[in-house]
Amino acid sequence: MSARDWWEDPPEIVLLNERHDRKSFTCGQPAMDDFLRTAPLNPHAEYKVWVATPRPGSSEILAYYAMHPDPIDLVSEEESVAQGVVTVVSVERLATSMHYQGRGLGDFLLATIIDQVIEASEVHPIEALTLVPLNDRVRAWYLRLGFLPTPGREGLFLPLSTLRLARASRLAE
Ligand SMILES: CC(C)(COP(=O)(O)OP(=O)(O)OC[C@H]1O[C@@H](n2cnc3c(N)ncnc32)[C@H](O)[C@@H]1OP(=O)(O)O)[C@@H](O)C(=O)NCCC(=O)NCCS
Repeated sequence: MSARDWWEDPPEIVLLNERHDRKSFTCGQPAMDDFLRTAPLNPHAEYKVWVATPRPGSSEILAYYAMHPDPIDLVSEEESVAQGVVTVVSVERLATSMHYQGRGLGDFLLATIIDQVIEASEVHPIEALTLVPLNDRVRAWYLRLGFLPTPGREGLFLPLSTLRLARASRLAE
């Protein structure tokens, strides 16, 4: 089977809803699978979960991610914009189904996350994107993508200026 070019033939990226088959998703990390299975669908829940499906309307979940705060909530929070609150967005979860790991979907999802954060930064001040890698292999991947170590902490961060550069260089390719 030839590898799918996620940029040429993108998956559907939507908020998790009732039609999605959460039970069949497994990424090899039970805690990450459980997070998806038990995530509330309530639009006011603390976390929103975004899923990638192979085609629009499909129930199969190829991958998911969750950010905190979610960029769409930042866009709607006009009050904190007025107060000038500067926010750091954290990628709390990111997982690809075992069947699809190592096929570039993670790269595509991070590019999608970057687009969402840049869009939110146009109406809400955002300082950086942060995350805590689950293991050394994943950490090396994030470092290659431009994330920087946070002094004294295990997490990594990507400043907004670098997010913009990452998107600009992708669009120029
Ligand atoms: C980490 C993960 C989200 C990457 O998604 P993906 O769709 O496999 O990503 P890509 O194909 O774009 O590969 C990007 C990087 O992911 C990591 N990766 C890919 N397949 C992996 C696997 N089976 N196990 C561990 N890491 C893997 C590698 O660092 C890879 O870069 P490299 O091949 O240059 O080393 C995915 O492999 C996964 O869900 N793993 C299990 C859950 C997990 O470890 N999540 C960590 C979040 S911090």
